[in-house]
Amino acid sequence: MAAEAWTPGPVLGIESSCDETAAAVYEPRWRELGLEHGVLSDCVASQVKLHAPHGGVVPELASRQHLRDVEPVVREALERAGLTLSELAGLAVTNGPGLVGALLVGVSFTKSLALATGKPFVGVHHLEGHVRSAFLEHDEPEEPYLALVVSGGHSSLYRIEREGFARRHRLLARTLDDAAGEAYDKVGKMMGLDYPAGPAIDRAARGFTGERVPFKPARIKVDGGRGVTHRAFSFSGIKTAVRHRLQQEGLAPLRPGENLSERADLLAILAGFQDTVVDMLVKPTLRIAREEGLRHLAVVGGVSANSRLRERLERDCARRELELIIPRPRWSTDNAAMIAAAGALHLAAGRRSGLDLVADPGLRLGEAA
Ligand code: KG4
Ligand code: ZN
Repeated sequence: MAAEAWTPGPVLGIESSCDETAAAVYEPRWRELGLEHGVLSDCVASQVKLHAPHGGVVPELASRQHLRDVEPVVREALERAGLTLSELAGLAVTNGPGLVGALLVGVSFTKSLALATGKPFVGVHHLEGHVRSAFLEHDEPEEPYLALVVSGGHSSLYRIEREGFARRHRLLARTLDDAAGEAYDKVGKMMGLDYPAGPAIDRAARGFTGERVPFKPARIKVDGGRGVTHRAFSFSGIKTAVRHRLQQEGLAPLRPGENLSERADLLAILAGFQDTVVDMLVKPTLRIAREEGLRHLAVVGGVSANSRLRERLERDCARRELELIIPRPRWSTDNAAMIAAAGALHLAAGRRSGLDLVADPGLRLGEAA
């Protein structure tokens, strides 16, 4: 791909990898370019209600809803930014990973806009977008830093290095099985909570002052060919431990209309589950930060909205003089501002996608360490 010059300006981002159709306009605010604006608009059409009765995202329903929502959401993002298509400096779209049919809606729509307007466009990796969400309202560290991406589909730790406008992502650790958000959602489902269960578990556990059921953190040993390493996460064991506990105690899931705050038996398990998940995220992350000699940690993705995780990170990072950067909860979950911001960097680095851009459900980010 040949590097092309780009005049910085507002970028329209489009995100449709899972169950939110999102569009946003972001204007680069790199100090070196003398620009001061950030997110000019940020619109999301959530499909949460559509999927809730099914206990998870139904891919075919998601694609159809994205098709209905993409045009009005993009129109609204432009209106709120007070811009027309012709005033944009470029377009950015999530082209993976995610649900293929869902991704295809955003990718095809963006290509048609690019074709009609002649604007440059780029495909953006969804996780790269999440990492960028940390810097929508915060300066990015100059030196290499660690980024923990904890979402419904991923629990990954990257070392990020800056090379001009380009970013190198080196994967240092990822989950061997379930993602942290997936564990929240599956445990919630066992207890009769709607999808996604993370926010409800967070709220309910916050108010719980009783005794918590203790769970053992997973012990991870991975032989990567170079001996045993502990650089990995695993959340499937704790999910199974919760299931066993529910069966042993003969606990019934929530009945329709029943309030979680009235179920101390479930809350004791959920609070214990959450403590352990937080522990299993924080400890390895801080250890790897120390091993890599990194002094800045960005924590992003849906699960980074979790209040217990935030408290724990704030406390532990302060003790170790590790600078913690967590975006506001608004930017933790899927949004298009992060995609537009990552896209702006690519455009500035001279990268362009062509009309042959594909929606890739298994798209990889960076290289293994
Ligand atoms: O980043 P995201 O919006 O979508 C993906 O890329 O997966 O993350 C969604 C995930 C869901 O699993 C949801 O349960 C979880 O993030 N989540 C939370 C909280 N808010 C969202 N988990 C725990 N505590 C929260 N406050
Ligand atoms: Zn996401």
